[in-house]
Amino acid sequence: MEQAAWALRPFAPAPGTVLAPLIEIPDGGVKEFSFGVGFNVWRMFVLRREGSVYGYLNLCPHYSMPLNHRDNEFMSRDGSKIMCRQHLALFRVEDGACLGGACDGRSLDAVPLRLDNGMIVIA
Ligand code: FES
Repeated sequence: MEQAAWALRPFAPAPGTVLAPLIEIPDGGVKEFSFGVGFNVWRMFVLRREGSVYGYLNLCPHYSMPLNHRDNEFMSRDGSKIMCRQHLALFRVEDGACLGGACDGRSLDAVPLRLDNGMIVIA
């Protein structure tokens, strides 16, 4: 089976890596996680929305830059979409698809997650 792009990047965590207790992210909240150090640090963020969690690599498909400027700042003003703070591209929460702006036809790279005994785990 072909490996997903997120898994091929330096410092990518192995499937089964525990990220955090689910309770650390309130409904509607977002939290960033990183692995490794230096220029190639591996960064992702997790959104919790109506009982589900969604994980994406923190790498915008527009210019391959992190989406945020500040800690855990990933959402549009109304909280309904993911927003890249670099050039304001918008992405759908459920699948990371581009909804508008400088990401035309591209998507965020999803990182599969599962819940295990109240913990958020890389699937
Ligand atoms: S780097 Fe995200 S919109 Fe340009």
